[in-house]
Amino acid sequence: MEYSEKVMDHFMNPRNVGEIEDASGVGEVGNPSCGDVMRIYLKINEGVIEDAKFKTFGCGAAIATSSMATEMVKGKTIEEAIKITNNVVAEALGGLPAVKMHCSVLAEEALESALTDYFKKQGEPEDKVRELKTAAGIPVREHNHESDH
Ligand code: FES
Repeated sequence: MEYSEKVMDHFMNPRNVGEIEDASGVGEVGNPSCGDVMRIYLKINEGVIEDAKFKTFGCGAAIATSSMATEMVKGKTIEEAIKITNNVVAEALGGLPAVKMHCSVLAEEALESALTDYFKKQGEPEDKVRELKTAAGIPVREHNHESDH
């Protein structure tokens, strides 16, 4: 199994590790088959993601994708951020071995879960992220292992 240089870089020097105390939204997801868990914190101001941090207890690919995903959403609007799917993150990392693609799914789901938490706190409907994704023509994935935060 070969990892790209970018994957190795984000694994060895992950960006944005930590927590945001007064986060606007927090999302936690896990993959029961490997036991890996990822948590993403977002600070959102007027629809713009000002800061993103993560804590991942998981494999190297999960750490690299959370690092890259948090880098990519910073400074983006929510509408832009929902376009950052697992494929977009994997591509930005120079690709992932096929057997590790499921790890990048955690990043997309954690992001979605953090945005959902944010919308809930704003009194918006719980499926708002899915609505936005559908409106933007982005495939909505079925969640079967999301743990409610
Ligand atoms: Fe579990 Fe990578 S093996 S997320």
